[in-house]
Amino acid sequence: MKLRGSPVKVKVLDHDMVVFRDARGRPSALLDRCSHRGAPLSIGRVVRGAVECSYHGWRYDRSGECIHIPSLTKERRIPKSCTVPSFPCAENDGYVWVWTGEGEPAPLPAIAGFSSRYWVQGMVEAQCASLRAVEINLDWCHPYFAHRWTHPQSYRIRVKGFSEGRYETRATSSGMILFAPPTKTDDAPVPAEPGIKLTYELPDRVSVEFFRPYHTRAVMHFVPTGPSSCRLEYVRTRSLPIGRRIRWESREPLLFAQDRTLLEGGQPWYDRDGGQFERSVEADWSTIMVRQIVEQAASGQWPPTELPRRRVISVRG
Ligand code: FES
Ligand SMILES: [Fe+2]
Repeated sequence: MKLRGSPVKVKVLDHDMVVFRDARGRPSALLDRCSHRGAPLSIGRVVRGAVECSYHGWRYDRSGECIHIPSLTKERRIPKSCTVPSFPCAENDGYVWVWTGEGEPAPLPAIAGFSSRYWVQGMVEAQCASLRAVEINLDWCHPYFAHRWTHPQSYRIRVKGFSEGRYETRATSSGMILFAPPTKTDDAPVPAEPGIKLTYELPDRVSVEFFRPYHTRAVMHFVPTGPSSCRLEYVRTRSLPIGRRIRWESREPLLFAQDRTLLEGGQPWYDRDGGQFERSVEADWSTIMVRQIVEQAASGQWPPTELPRRRVISVRG
């Protein structure tokens, strides 16, 4: 969502937040709950860099401190306890990054080469678990069926038919890379420009890159908003480098809607039995690998010790 002069409601994991800009334009993130009677601050307005509650007009600065209570007479002070919890946040590469963890915020996860490209930016809410949405973007075998006429792989198979090929996965310090065609040997470096490259970075970022006929790229974050819901925040490169560097798109691209329909349709089955029904084949390795990465990182085993560093998978597609 866009962040301009009005407060914006944002959910990250199970934190409901209001995000707004202070008088200097810096982003601020507070719990979306007025300390007076609990009204959501996100339906209020921003006044001189402070967010004003729309119930009785209490105002909070970027640190969550209450700086104005309209009903107080002159001789009364604002009670110290009238604060709202705040979250550290910073702005970079077209996004506001909010820290919900303990201790010092982690370094900002930069998007490599962001400033040298032109982007379309958008957001889609999805009623499926974040990990399911990550997986589908690393799933080599779905575009032909799921993305009729919206994905290069769908066109290729429709024109040339199915063929046998291989993709390669590599474990990295922050997740994994999948690319095709594979390298010849275990110690060959990852090619700078393979045909297709899919990158997963913990905890929720997937980048999709095609290098031919020219370099296109989409960077997607699947922000969890609950156990069975997430929000896709994406930027994708524009072919023509003209106009604004970042253009907002409010209509969901068909390609994303195709994935979302499948994921939302399947989610209730995962909710019911946790995915016990699932069966997989060798070609699904990339999905299995991303799950193992998430599982190991969540249990504190990072970098992982048991994941194969490199694997080449035979696949028909
Ligand atoms: S509930 Fe927010 S000012 Fe009263
Ligand atoms: Fe897809």
